[in-house]
Amino acid sequence: MSRFQKEFPQAAGLIYLNHAAVSPWPQRSADAVARFAQENVSTGARDYPTWLEVEQRLRERLQRLLNAPASSDIALVKNTSEALSFVAFGLEWEPGDQVVISDEEFPSNRIVWEALAPQGVEVIKVSLAGDDPEGALLAACGPRTRLLAISAVQYASGLKMDLVKLGQGCRELDVLFCVDAIQQLGSAPFDVQACECDFAMADGHKWMLGPEGLGVFYCRPELRPRLRLQEYGWHMLEHMGDYTRESWEPAHSARRFECGSPNILGTMALEASLGLLEEVGMEQVHRAIEAQVDQLISGIRQIPGGQIHSPLAPERRAGIFSFSVDGKDSIALHKQLMAQGVVCIPRGKGVRFSPHFYTGEEAIADALAIVRQLSV
Ligand SMILES: Cc1ncc(COP(=O)(O)O)c(C=O)c1O
Repeated sequence: MSRFQKEFPQAAGLIYLNHAAVSPWPQRSADAVARFAQENVSTGARDYPTWLEVEQRLRERLQRLLNAPASSDIALVKNTSEALSFVAFGLEWEPGDQVVISDEEFPSNRIVWEALAPQGVEVIKVSLAGDDPEGALLAACGPRTRLLAISAVQYASGLKMDLVKLGQGCRELDVLFCVDAIQQLGSAPFDVQACECDFAMADGHKWMLGPEGLGVFYCRPELRPRLRLQEYGWHMLEHMGDYTRESWEPAHSARRFECGSPNILGTMALEASLGLLEEVGMEQVHRAIEAQVDQLISGIRQIPGGQIHSPLAPERRAGIFSFSVDGKDSIALHKQLMAQGVVCIPRGKGVRFSPHFYTGEEAIADALAIVRQLSV
């Protein structure tokens, strides 16, 4: 991975272990944005069609990242929360309908379902603490359950779900399956067809190494017409660009979820970031992250009082590693780590480290040495 180090010329002494929050950009993404800024200064939008070519490349990269059937199944949205809202407020609900989620979801994947309470929708929260979290979620689905919504990877514990098992279970139960993929997409392979999900969404600023404010929304093509649209404008029309036409209909493609002018600035950055991830390859990215989490597990185990709050089984973890040290307040430990250049965050039961593929063994060893020194 050392050949990719030049893409991350981060400040000296900085160890960035916070990709599960907001990632640093690769150099090529900053360059793409700088070029775009300069182009806007010198020729404005004269060459707009070339910008749309970049946007199409981004859709194709996202299509491959999700293994979506077609690039026209990819909608570019503001963020995960917006896409979740498109699903929650797009479906028709009956009083008494239920949505099943876990009891440890990031607020975006809880509040959006709780916000359906005025329509009589009940939210069932399931503990993932047992040996069979997928079994527990599926067992909670009853005759009134319409949808199961889950994070592919839990933001605090880092627990990675078996999405294929959940997808199959949802099919058998005739329950819609919605995956908040933000903590997996860009850190491990993801496949909307293999897991048979109906909806998947993620923002680009975490594992995809992009800026905030540009995300992806996948809706299974057959279901698109079933989602009542929430936003309208010139861009989401089947005959986009035909401004004098009186009659209209929403685009048949996923563009129906994109109401107005696109976020081309974000597109420039995210397209470049995903280009890098594709060069490395998702399997390689995943293996590199896995090796670093292995290193963190053995390092924290060697620190007296070190406690690991993330799953240990490789198939149960992605890039999120949470730990604490007995007798040491995690908020204080986090502050001290930040003061020593280790960028991380307190989450759940401890401090959360989230390295990316390029972080490297040496940086992890340095971070562990700092934890050890702060723990005495
Ligand atoms: C699991 C999960 N879902 C959603 C979000 C928020 O996503 P967005 O800001 O793209 O709406 C986060 C952010 O930390 C997250 O961890």
